[in-house]
Amino acid sequence: MVVCIVSVIVAEDLTKQFGELVAVDSVSFAVEEGEVFGFLGPNGAGKTTTMKMIQCVSPKTAGKLTVFGMEVSTHQREIKKLLGVAPQENNLDPDFTVHENLMVYSRYFDIPRAKAERMVAELLDFIQLSHKKDTVIEQLSGGMKRRLILARALINSPRMLILDEPTIGLDPQARHLIWDKIKSLQSQGITIVLTTHYLEEAAQLCNRLVIMDYGKILVQGKPDEVIREYIGTDIVEAENDPEVIACLERNTTSYDVIGNRVQVYTNNPQEMIYSLLKECELGQITARSATLEDVFLKLTGRKLRE
Ligand SMILES: Nc1ncnc2c1ncn2[C@@H]1O[C@H](COP(=O)(O)OP(=O)(O)OP(=O)(O)O)[C@@H](O)[C@H]1O
Ligand SMILES: [Mg+2]
Repeated sequence: MVVCIVSVIVAEDLTKQFGELVAVDSVSFAVEEGEVFGFLGPNGAGKTTTMKMIQCVSPKTAGKLTVFGMEVSTHQREIKKLLGVAPQENNLDPDFTVHENLMVYSRYFDIPRAKAERMVAELLDFIQLSHKKDTVIEQLSGGMKRRLILARALINSPRMLILDEPTIGLDPQARHLIWDKIKSLQSQGITIVLTTHYLEEAAQLCNRLVIMDYGKILVQGKPDEVIREYIGTDIVEAENDPEVIACLERNTTSYDVIGNRVQVYTNNPQEMIYSLLKECELGQITARSATLEDVFLKLTGRKLRE
């Protein structure tokens, strides 16, 4: 069988400057048709700026960026028609009801009224907000607004969705609902590009992802591969004690000191625990699977961004 991989977004040395600040610094990546592709990174890493260049609402400073094979600087109208966008900030019209918000949005895409009414009913059902159809926006909860923004992004039956922090501030129930919706949209063939600070969410949803910091891409790949490459399959934790550290140094294992704990990275936790217990004087030892959060903190550090 021949599998044909089509790249629907291609960025090469993509750069965005705001005056002196290089918000996106010569990044290159390709998003394949039908995948869920994630952008992770600390606050200010350049995720939203990258999303806005893809959406054709913020012009790039340099480099190449094509969406569905079209250059963003010359084909804004054509690209925008094919995209559904859920921005990071809730920008629903506060004076209108749920139903009116979706209907007003449908007009930007010249969707005939009868068809728009059908779409709106379907979408409200999809995100489980039919019962709030006539409620004004200010009376919705934060989670309901996020769901409505997802529905609004779908009004033009897009081929690609750009979701900037789709589950920010949601309770676990609402987050899982959005995850189910994202998976269901992917199964319909829609390509999904998302940003998130929830690393468990990225691990669950993303086929591939990048971790950005200070405008640069630090790593890209499949979640499991990224974890294996930078951490190993498991982490063995022990007390941060000078003797333990000296022993780890003698055994030349890969480790980090985090507060009063030492984290030892390994692909073979049983052997590692056995050898640490044998070689080093350990008070307490625990083992767990390595996660994307371990990679994130290892690569981007633990300092707060200004
Ligand atoms: N319109 C703008 N004018 C000037 N600087 C900007 C503008 N938009 C973003 N920036 C700066 O660009 C950098 C990247 O911001 P961006 O919003 O892309 O980060 P982010 O990764 O989305 O962060 P967060 O996780 O907080 O949403 C930040 O330093 C930000 O202050
Ligand atoms: Mg952002």
